[in-house]
Amino acid sequence: MEIRVLPLPDDRKKPKYDDESKLAFGRIFTDRMLLIEWKVGQGWVDARIQPYEPFVLDPACLVFHYAQEIFEGLKAYKWQDGTITLFRPEMNAHRFNLSAERISMPLLPEELFLKGIEDLVRLEKDWIPASEGTSLYIRPTMIAVEPVLGVKPSDHYYFFVILSPVGAYYASGFNPVKIMVEDHYVRAVPGGTGEAKTGGNYASSLKAGLEAKGKGYDQVLWLDGVHRRYIEEVGAMNMFFAYGDTVVTSPLTGSILNGVTRDSVLKLAGSLGFRLEERLIDINELMADVKSGKVTEAFGSGTAAVITPVGTLGYKGENYTVGSGGVGLLTQKLYDTLTGIQYGRIEDRFGWVRKIGQ
Ligand code: COI
Repeated sequence: MEIRVLPLPDDRKKPKYDDESKLAFGRIFTDRMLLIEWKVGQGWVDARIQPYEPFVLDPACLVFHYAQEIFEGLKAYKWQDGTITLFRPEMNAHRFNLSAERISMPLLPEELFLKGIEDLVRLEKDWIPASEGTSLYIRPTMIAVEPVLGVKPSDHYYFFVILSPVGAYYASGFNPVKIMVEDHYVRAVPGGTGEAKTGGNYASSLKAGLEAKGKGYDQVLWLDGVHRRYIEEVGAMNMFFAYGDTVVTSPLTGSILNGVTRDSVLKLAGSLGFRLEERLIDINELMADVKSGKVTEAFGSGTAAVITPVGTLGYKGENYTVGSGGVGLLTQKLYDTLTGIQYGRIEDRFGWVRKIGQ
């Protein structure tokens, strides 16, 4: 499908950020966006890259009432030599369709997802920051725009992509965060939408997140929705624990997100000689192991969060320091290797980096 590029008038160009080191996460957006529509009986139509602008939407649109919405998150990087790359975007294209299928939205051809993003990022390349820890965050999204109040899948959708130059997700940067194990609210249940990247999962996490913030934590770690016993994910991150040279993470049971960074960490840790275990992690055993020092490191992984060390775990009102409470050696090694590949300093032996321009 042809993707038209609409003109960007001078008065629609935004002032650029002037200090890359001060970039926060997801607060500023580039000049252009991608928009493709899906209409019943026609399929995907009218693909265009246009100036970034607000939508004018009927207040009856299904997305506002029944949350038929999915999204993805991936990043573009600018290397020191000017090469522009994406990191494993095929995985996002594939996962986007798994999410679409789960909440009865049309599937988007993966080549169109990738081409749309590549064309847009190339046009907006001057917005990609180049310094360490910065990147261009890419947010593909699909919303249901049919104006009707009956509960049903929409007959009209917008697929759009916006771009945001970003720094670290956590204001603390690559420093240990404090996570509270949530034993009251749950994020997902078997058979639910936990594995899909749909906005509703995040909306329902806000209350627990706020309560945890009020107690001095950065985010919550969810337990499984049936027993409130097994570790699931953090919401913006999958979780990993190091027991010496064994790296442990929760299996993909259907109620946690199949993270691109999670998969990359497993492959990297394996290639660095660590033993891998994907197994149910019982919270009581985990806390005992943290207390006795058997758990030497904990960290989260995610596109936005990259690799984020976890220094403290709070559970049932008590705080437990993980390892030294600082950044562990394995966490640092994985962070350095992953970001080394992403920023072109370390050879990509996995075929993860997709070069899309200069
Ligand atoms: C990402 O890591 O890209 C995510 O989608 C998490 C997010 C909610 C910031």
